[in-house]
Amino acid sequence: MAGAGISTPSGIPDFRSPGSGLYSNLQQYDIPYPEAIFELTFFFQNPKPFFTLAKELYPGNFRPNLTHYFLRLLHEKGLLLRLYTQNIDGLERVSGIPASKLVEAHGTFASATCTVCLRRCPGEDFWADVLADRVPCCGVCTGIVKPDIVFFGEALPERFLLHVVDFPMADLLVVLGTSLEVEPFASLSEGVRNSVPRVLINQDVVGTFAWRPRSRDVVQLGDVVHSVEKLVKLLGWTEDMRDLVHQETEKVLRMGRKGPSAA
Ligand code: OAD
Ligand code: ZN
Repeated sequence: MAGAGISTPSGIPDFRSPGSGLYSNLQQYDIPYPEAIFELTFFFQNPKPFFTLAKELYPGNFRPNLTHYFLRLLHEKGLLLRLYTQNIDGLERVSGIPASKLVEAHGTFASATCTVCLRRCPGEDFWADVLADRVPCCGVCTGIVKPDIVFFGEALPERFLLHVVDFPMADLLVVLGTSLEVEPFASLSEGVRNSVPRVLINQDVVGTFAWRPRSRDVVQLGDVVHSVEKLVKLLGWTEDMRDLVHQETEKVLRMGRKGPSAA
């Protein structure tokens, strides 16, 4: 299970960290209170703040960090049953984890839907508007087109239901970089069997790890990248990790040379 804390080392602020979190920097987005940015009522009054955030998270602005690549390595080694993420930055996909292994519980910018006629729009169509600071509108009915990000009160994507089969099956639960404050996601952390060890890798002890700890819980506090490096070393995967990061960096460099900016 992952949250915004796995992407802060990539330069994306989380939500609730005092000072640096998005919810402490409201004036930048022109929102009256933190959650407004993900509330439908506010969105229909003023969709601009949400699209300012969307523009910032434009795919390509940020790169995965060691944490994302560690999760990719778990997959490469056949150990990743599923990655449940609350993040909407898409860095799990960029790191090379296949869609079949992912549950993007709070949605994705990869697609969008008209809020009036519910027509589905491919991502490319609305990014041009977002990048030009325009609110994207439906070509059919002129309704506002909203990326498929889950707002407060909205249903989670259907894939979230996979948790019903995944969690009872897991042999180990790793929870990284989340405050475990948002439901129903937070409660997944109690969905594994009682005998299953749960590992929390986070700046501080959160959620069920604080108020209903289990005897086999392991809590590793501090910076997520530092903790992941330590874990990788314990697993004897340091070289595999180095190779994977090297391979991915080379890929980006090759793309850069071929890309339009190379000239
Ligand atoms: P939060 O901002 O609530 O929590 C991030 C957690 O990561 C905090 O406990 C931080 O201390 C920790 N953290 C941050 N940087 C870290 C680092 N470098 N190393 C270790 N820990 C670090 O973010 P989420 O739990 O993901 O909803 O928030 C859940 C949901 O609330 C989000 O998905 C978002 C928001 O409303 C939507 O986007 C719809
Ligand atoms: Zn429409």
